Amino acid sequence: MPRVDYIAHDGTRTRVDVPAGENVMRGALYNGVEGIVGECGGGLSCATCHCYVDEAWADRVGGPATPAEEELLAAAATEVTPRSRLSCQIDMTDALDGLVVHLPESQY
Ligand code: FES
Repeated sequence: MPRVDYIAHDGTRTRVDVPAGENVMRGALYNGVEGIVGECGGGLSCATCHCYVDEAWADRVGGPATPAEEELLAAAATEVTPRSRLSCQIDMTDALDGLVVHLPESQY
């Protein structure tokens, strides 16, 4: 099963198994990873699942945010960078085993 490393703002690393087909936001929520809220449940309407894809993985997660994500990210609580994504829009695959995402200081 592919694994994801969630790096909290303070540098704490939490590694969890996230099944292929599941998204990175749910992987955090189901495993008690703090720093991702996912208020809308993945409905692409909240931006509380903001994360920064590690530089090494930026191309492999499907590139930068889609236009719909970018629109929501404009309302994100923390700085938006070219590596910003909504974690509910990153679907896990076996090819993403070892994915690293960094979490913002706050989602509000
Ligand atoms: S959980 Fe709401 S946009 Fe991702």
